[in-house]
Parts: sequence; structure tokens; C-alpha cells
Amino acid sequence: MGKCPDCGAWNTLEEVVDVPQSPAQQRRQSIMAASPASNSHHPHTPIVLPHIKPLVQERISVGYPEMDRVLGGGLVAGSLILVGGEPGIGKSTLLLQISGEIAKNVGPVLYVSGEESIEQIKMRAERLDIVGEQLYLLAAIELDLIVESVNRVKPAMVIVDSIQTVLASHLTAAPGSISQVRECTLQLMQLAKTSQIPILVIGHVTKEGTVAGPKALEHIVDAVLYLEGERYHSYRLLRGVKNRFGATHEIGVFEMHGEGLIEVTNPSAVFLSDRMSNASGSAVVVSMEGTRPLLVEVQALVTPSNFGNPRSTTNGIDHNRLVMLMAVLTKRVGLAVGGHDVYANVVGGFNIEEPSIDLGVAAAIASSYREKLIPADMALIGEVGLSGELRAVSRLSLRVREAAKLGFKRCLIPSAGQGNKLHHEIAETYPEEDFRVITASTLAVALEIALH
Ligand code: TYD
Ligand code: MG
Repeated sequence: MGKCPDCGAWNTLEEVVDVPQSPAQQRRQSIMAASPASNSHHPHTPIVLPHIKPLVQERISVGYPEMDRVLGGGLVAGSLILVGGEPGIGKSTLLLQISGEIAKNVGPVLYVSGEESIEQIKMRAERLDIVGEQLYLLAAIELDLIVESVNRVKPAMVIVDSIQTVLASHLTAAPGSISQVRECTLQLMQLAKTSQIPILVIGHVTKEGTVAGPKALEHIVDAVLYLEGERYHSYRLLRGVKNRFGATHEIGVFEMHGEGLIEVTNPSAVFLSDRMSNASGSAVVVSMEGTRPLLVEVQALVTPSNFGNPRSTTNGIDHNRLVMLMAVLTKRVGLAVGGHDVYANVVGGFNIEEPSIDLGVAAAIASSYREKLIPADMALIGEVGLSGELRAVSRLSLRVREAAKLGFKRCLIPSAGQGNKLHHEIAETYPEEDFRVITASTLAVALEIALH
């Protein structure tokens, strides 16, 4: 229309496109409207950097230093944290335990479960010795109900157990489907951000890695922690794989007991405690897990192959890495391990991806192959290259000092990088014969020293 039928002016009409809102958007906006906003401005207006109020990064301790460290120093207000792991590994147990601590020390906690009845949770809480004056339980799956309860209870922390059971009722898909899980996570994110309440969400991962599993949510949430371990071993590792408020790759170590998860504050000592010092094929390596060095035992067993078709299997280390180390041992060191079955294993159900354990793994294989012991008081650190050279690793000094602290007397390290410098430093700090650092430039030389 050229002429406005209302005021009679010409060419004054403007086109306005009316975008219909999806039900999901409407819902998220209603959540935002219902909760007090942290920044008072309109949420969709861009703001210049100096005018943005800094996040109050006050951290709440969850009562377990092992978990606080993985979180980067405690829970941040308004963060959404995904705790993933295989069914039965102990996710509900861990989060119920921290709920008990927060309820005791900080304020009310809302624990929402779509998997168990509140009576079942109470039974577990009793076993875990949780009094829970301030611990609110809710058995629900509808997201609207959860949001309503959060607004009513105004808790210091919310647990949602598990994301696979939550249901946004405006979607027709079944709980646990990818669209439900994503939508519910997005809404919980909004809720956390607007209410400034930290929300921890449990997500089950199956061995096959389900479609609707936590993997699909990692990019939405602020932090992702995985609880892992062998189901039939009692150790559980809480591993940070993403953290917008701290460093990743920190681990916390727990042990599952009859009365719940107990922190293991000195894991190296525990993992090395049932080590047989007089067996061939055993080496102690120092792996860095986040900021913490961890001493673990790797074992290898080399046996002549019976079927002319040699096998190699690994537990806790990358199989391709093992095959590469076997090739280097064959070609650069002259150990014909090729015609043998080789088994390599990290003790304690650990998974180590770091190349710094190469030297230890190679030495364990050589030790088993040649039936010679690696000294029980020696720790081995170093990456092995394809030319058979020993390569520098990060945080060498920290690793070596941890070995010394645990009573090891010798540390075999690469001379490359900081190796030689460290060799002199250590010689000055420890009296002769008390603790020694031995450097080597190649795998062949290192094996001469370790297995002489
Ligand atoms: P759970 O926390 O239910 O696992 P998830 O939530 O990850 O599926 O843990 C279940 C296992 O933990 C179960 O097999 C029993 C064991 N458990 C203990 O050994 N001790 C305990 O005190 C508790 C509560 C559980
Ligand atoms: Mg559970």
C-alpha cells in the first residue's frame, strides 16, 4: 500500500517480518523471565566489554578435595556440569554424597531423580550416613516440575539424575532421545544461568557410546566430568574433560566401599602397594594427570607364539602405541619380539594416553623378553621416537620429584630437553646414593642401564 489508511501519509509503511516463536524458545524465555536476571540489562542487547559486570566466581566446596580439584577449585555459581559414566559406576552415589556435604555446610540441595524412588534414595543415603536436614528429594521426570521445584526450594545446588529420564513435555519424542536430551539440557542451562544455581546433571554412557549420551551434550554444558573405572575394580577416577572454569585433565581418585566412595589422597602409593618387586616385565612409570604426577606400574608378558600368528593385546594403553614400541624394539634395539605374543597392562584399571610412559612400556617388554628384572626402586620416564631416540617430556622435574617423594632411589629419564640440567639439580638437592637421576639418549642405552 502506498498510502497509509490510518493517517493518510504516502510511502511511510515499513515491512516488519513476524517470526513465529518455536515452543522451545517461548519456554526458555519464560524460564528467563521467571528467574531474577544476573545482569539487569535486556538480555539480547550487545554490551561493550568494560560495562559487563564480572562473574562473581565464588566457589562452593563440594566437601571432597578430590572433586573440588577436578572442578577447578569448587562449584561455580550458575554452572551446568555434566557427570558422565557407565551405568553402575557410582555416579548417583558420588552426587548423593556431595549433596549431603553441601546440604550440611552450605544450604538446601534439591536432588531430582527420574531413576529411583525417594525411598530408594533414602535407603542409600542412610547407608552413606547422610542426615540431610536440608536435602530435598524429588522423584520426577517432567522438566516443568523440576523448574518449579527449583524456584520454590531455591537450593544452593541441584542434581538431576539422569538427563536421559528428563522430559520436556512440549516435545513428543521419548525421554532419552537425542532431541529430548538436548532440549532439556539447554533449558537447564538457562535455568542455571538465570538463577545462578549450580546444576549437576548425570548422563549415562554405554560402552558403545549411545547416540543420546553425554557426548552429544559436551558442547552445551560448562564442564564435563567422567567417572570411570573398571566395574570390578574398586577404584574410580573422576576425570575433567572440559571445564570453562578451570584446567582440564585433572583427576580425582576414589575407592568404592560399602559405605560409599572414599577419597584416595595418595593414589601412587596405593597403586604401587601390591607390586611384586621380583617379577620380570614390571616397570614403574610417572604419568601426569592434570597437575598431578601419578606413579603406576605397567606390566608386560612376552611369550613365544604358539600359532604362528602372534597376538598383542593391551589394557589401559593404546594398542597402536604398543605395536610401534615393539617395532622400535625389533629394529633399533635388536630384540626380536615380533614372533611373540605380547600383553601389556596398566595396573589398577587405569587408562594412560601419555607418550611419557613409552620408556616404561618398552622396558617392561624387554624385561619380560630377556627375563631380567628392572630394579624395584627405579622409575622410568620418557617418550620413544621411531629412530629409537628418547624424547623429552613435559613437567619432568615434577615427575622426578614425585618419584623421590615415594621412596624411589633412581629415575631413568631422557637426556634431551631439561634432562641433563635436572640431572645436575637433583645431584645437588639429594645426597649421593639417596636419589639419583640417570639420563639416556636412546632406548637402547636406557635398556642397558635398566636391565644390566
Ligand atoms: P550407582 O551410584 O547407583 O551407579 P550409577 O548411578 O553410576 O549407575 O552405584 C551403583 C554401584 O555402586 C552398585 O553396584 C553398588 C555400588 N555401591 C557400593 O559398593 N557401595 C555403596 O555404598 C553404594 C551406595 C553403592
Ligand atoms: Mg544412578
